[in-house]
Amino acid sequence: MPAPRPAYLEFFAGGGMARLGLGEGWDCVFANDRDAGKAAAYRANFRDADAHLRQADVWDLSPCDIPGRADLAWASSPCQDLSLAGKRAGLDGARSSAFWGFWRLMQALDAQGRAPPVIVIENVAGLATSNGGADLTGLCAALAEAGYAFGALEIDAALFLPQSRPRLFLVASRRENRALCAPAPVAPFHSPRIRAAYARLPDPLKSGWRWWSLPEPPRRNAALAQVLEPDAAVAWHHAATTERWLDLLAPLHRRRLAEATAGGERCVGTLFRRMRPSPGGGTVQRAELRLDGVAGCLRTPAGGSSRQVVLVCEGECARTRPLSPREAARLMGLPDAYALPARATAALQLCGDGVAVPVVAHLERHLLRALLAPGRLDAGARARPSGVVEADADAGGASAVGRHLVAEPALP
Ligand SMILES: C[S@@+](CC[C@H](N)C(=O)[O-])C[C@H]1O[C@@H](n2cnc3c(N)ncnc32)[C@H](O)[C@@H]1O
Repeated sequence: MPAPRPAYLEFFAGGGMARLGLGEGWDCVFANDRDAGKAAAYRANFRDADAHLRQADVWDLSPCDIPGRADLAWASSPCQDLSLAGKRAGLDGARSSAFWGFWRLMQALDAQGRAPPVIVIENVAGLATSNGGADLTGLCAALAEAGYAFGALEIDAALFLPQSRPRLFLVASRRENRALCAPAPVAPFHSPRIRAAYARLPDPLKSGWRWWSLPEPPRRNAALAQVLEPDAAVAWHHAATTERWLDLLAPLHRRRLAEATAGGERCVGTLFRRMRPSPGGGTVQRAELRLDGVAGCLRTPAGGSSRQVVLVCEGECARTRPLSPREAARLMGLPDAYALPARATAALQLCGDGVAVPVVAHLERHLLRALLAPGRLDAGARARPSGVVEADADAGGASAVGRHLVAEPALP
């Protein structure tokens, strides 16, 4: 008999990237997102979605909507009010306060003896500093009050994929496993931001903090050029549009480009628009260029950002074009079998909102699975929605990212 798989709840599920990262060793028993487009994408990719996906506002859910007692709750709550690029109203901001809708449900499940023993809260790295750090301290206080030990990690997707995407993962557990903790911060995941957040905690909260210890992944091989579509398969900008992009380059970035193209070999990078302080006061629009083989962080129009542009230079010839939805999906670690929404804006929104799949897989493999390993179960057994009782939570083999997608989608 194969060991039963640990069950989890996926809040703010979007396109299901946390699910893909957790892989086939886990059993998704409940997923929620309020957005119709995201829910449609989730359904298009997971054949069992009808059984557990609730398209609803998290505030409209009640504990009755959530089956059994899950082992893990994953919450990638909205980041707009926490993003360094935004106005940073914080966790009480109009959109990011949805987190408290999730937390209210965790408290209600706890009152019924059904709280998941492990919770992962994922958000932008700005959560470490929003409201002068008070937001993260408030989260730690809520977790401590509910009996969880907790610790944050800052993981940049660039360790796994050619996209710069630092994100904060606050991992909370009622299972104690000191073998998974370091006595002190460890690079690279306990970044200066995370250490400063810990230093700000009041002493009683510090005792609940854990320096979760994860190995650094093997060196990434893929560079930006390897996720791009063939040149002939994409539509390029007219020369005048490319000229306008190059005109927007700041002097430093213009110099970088000149140096990179001096030898005449092919050079690939990304461009994105930014408002920057102007020497004469006010702000001025600039194009910023990355030529280090890594794309800038994918964002969404709702996050105040424009679509990234690919720049390819060969000798004197420079060409530009928008990053395609499939390229954005690859930058998130989504397999090409993942069915993207047909509209480019919706597909880019889905990718820009997501959590990078290999980052979740790394956490799953080196921390989450071990936190739920046999011998460390609270009561030695957990009731399933079906009433089946399981005694062993070993997740088995490594995450099989993408293996449980519905079907081969049509190529874009
Ligand atoms: C940061 S994204 C998470 C994306 C997801 N982790 C993924 O990888 O695709 C936040 C998600 O929360 C959803 N959302 C925002 N406010 C919500 C609310 N009040 N109730 C339910 N879902 C909400 C959004 O539609 C969005 O898909």
